[in-house]
Amino acid sequence: MNMYEIIEKKKLDIPLTKEEIYYFVNGYTKDEIKDYQVSALLMAIYFNGLSLEETYYLTEAMINSGDVIDLSKINGIKVDKHSTGGVGDTTTLVVGPLVASCGVPFAKMSGRGLGHTGGTLDKLESIKGFNVELSIEEFIENTNKIKISICGQTGEVTPADKKLYALRDATATVDNLSLISSSILSKKIAVGADALILDVKVGSGAFMKTVEDAEKLSNMMVSLGKKFNRNTMAVITNMNEPLGYAVGNSLEVIEAVNTLSGKGPKDLTELCLSISSKLLLLAGKVTREIDARKLVEENLKNGAALEKFKELVIAQGGDVTYIEDTSKFKISKIKKDIFANKDGYIKSINALEIGEASKNLGAGRETKESQIDLGAGILLNKKIDEYVKSGDLLATIYTEKENIINEISNDVLKSFEIGEKNKDPYKLIIKEI
Ligand code: URA
Ligand code: CA
Repeated sequence: MNMYEIIEKKKLDIPLTKEEIYYFVNGYTKDEIKDYQVSALLMAIYFNGLSLEETYYLTEAMINSGDVIDLSKINGIKVDKHSTGGVGDTTTLVVGPLVASCGVPFAKMSGRGLGHTGGTLDKLESIKGFNVELSIEEFIENTNKIKISICGQTGEVTPADKKLYALRDATATVDNLSLISSSILSKKIAVGADALILDVKVGSGAFMKTVEDAEKLSNMMVSLGKKFNRNTMAVITNMNEPLGYAVGNSLEVIEAVNTLSGKGPKDLTELCLSISSKLLLLAGKVTREIDARKLVEENLKNGAALEKFKELVIAQGGDVTYIEDTSKFKISKIKKDIFANKDGYIKSINALEIGEASKNLGAGRETKESQIDLGAGILLNKKIDEYVKSGDLLATIYTEKENIINEISNDVLKSFEIGEKNKDPYKLIIKEI
């Protein structure tokens, strides 16, 4: 077997065998196969695709390329959620405590923000003292004790994906369904949850620009998850505006606390209730979604979910008075209001552009090494389908960078599309799979 023959086969659209897939994944991970050959193979895969079976072996090979985290010592059916990259997406910080308050273990290894999307670890670090670097033993112990733990990845998980993802990024081969599915699922399965819900974003801020593509990706990932014996579901959700009002680390934690207190934005609250209900179903806590929904609504109302979030903060060394009094969060000092420049309905708020603007204000990273300003970001004041008059407040931006404030203000203003009323009202949850 050699790489030339594997490329030739995929070029002619002949399915690859398990052995061939393992050969290139392992060879590439160990630097024994060169970038140029893998690039050519990726492009052949891009054009000719992979079957579900080939995608399964690719995923398996990537899982086996590194450490596989063993969470079998956590009691009960552990659930996890993954979003394909939203803007202002604070759902993990609400869904985690909410399902944990219902007795379902939420053991999540999370990531940091990169580019226009934020990361849960950065958000949590805006709570003074919160420690995201747990050992596997601490992670397991916390989850067994209080049903929730959130930390960064330990060990070396899916090194093959790291290399392949970087190469795909440089060779215009990211947007292939099999490559995306195997990349996401390999990471999720390697970190050990039993049941998984995938929040597949569609729209301006997302990888998938059409519902049709999002549906194909969801079907592929759900089938793949099931092949690995993980109870998997997907929801396709709209990213034609950011989720909730807050974009930026401290701002989003405050929004999460408000949501856990039953005073959150309507869209964020609805998505969190919906995802949490499904997780209770997947975990076998209840058998009917309507019962799950009752439970999660109840725990949002009676304060149990907020109480669980406080337990999480205390267990991981954070200062819980931040949660009791959110005015303690440090918000960047320089503040500027953005006003509408005409009358009309808000047709869309470009989530990608808002995410970029928030990053440029200091809330996100250009590269993995960039320092971020946890207090920077954007607070929207209007959402899709609202009517505004010229001079109405659309959003407020927060930063420590005086020199960029005018440029970013313009970017934020441009991300609001104002005009005729949309034909159909905005629908957040588009489809469940
Ligand atoms: N997110 C991932 O982790 N991998 C992809 O390929 C796309 C999105
Ligand atoms: Ca938000």
